[in-house]
Amino acid sequence: MARRKYVVGNWKMNGLSAALADAQAIFAGAEDHSAVDVAICPPFTLVGAMVAAAPGSAVGGQDCHSATSGAFTGSVAAPMLADIGASLVIVGHSERREGFSESDADVRAKAEAGLTAGLSVILCVGEPRAVRESGGAIDYVLAQIAGSVPESFDAHRLAIAYEPIWAIGTGLVPTVVDVAAMHGAIRRALAARFGGAAEDMRILYGGSVNGDNAAELLDAGDVDGALVGGASLTAAKFMPIVAAAAALG
Ligand code: 13P
Repeated sequence: MARRKYVVGNWKMNGLSAALADAQAIFAGAEDHSAVDVAICPPFTLVGAMVAAAPGSAVGGQDCHSATSGAFTGSVAAPMLADIGASLVIVGHSERREGFSESDADVRAKAEAGLTAGLSVILCVGEPRAVRESGGAIDYVLAQIAGSVPESFDAHRLAIAYEPIWAIGTGLVPTVVDVAAMHGAIRRALAARFGGAAEDMRILYGGSVNGDNAAELLDAGDVDGALVGGASLTAAKFMPIVAAAAALG
């Protein structure tokens, strides 16, 4: 079965209660594009309220702890996200790997926790600029895949997001050829380890996706959707990306 396109907004540390109206506008607009799965991952503080404001919509966390409970001040466990109606969680974002020193093993444990809690998981990988410039991007990302993808999972509930760090929030994007090469390499690595399940896994691209470049990026080989930061905060910016995905089917 063909993989459905998946467009996910990562609001990062943006959004007070007033932003729930933006989420409602996005989910209302998404109803016109039923061939695309649309989700928003707001800050933890808005997850429950967003679920209530947009019943039935896909709302998720941006991180979770690997433990189910315990003395981890400030952290949120995957079952807690599920408990308030979240259906997905992002793990291993570069802003967590770099800013909070999360290792591949940490990311893998978080992915396992999310899956065990019944959530869908978006597991992020991506290389820094120096690695891209040295020609080592694919090896770097495949090592992240090897180290952070769990050993067993439901392929329909685990997506990979390739987000080159140098493309995040910079307005820079890799060439379509480079995106297709990376996504193809990721798919082949997943197939070598997990066999046919790799065909069911969605691989998203993230990094400066906007309404102008989405159609081209989403049409690249093995790109099944987008993980969007800045351009996901309003319906005006986000819906053109969703529409671009819908146009590709
Ligand atoms: P931008 O779309 O703002 O570049 O952010 C991408 C990202 O990090 C999504 O997780």
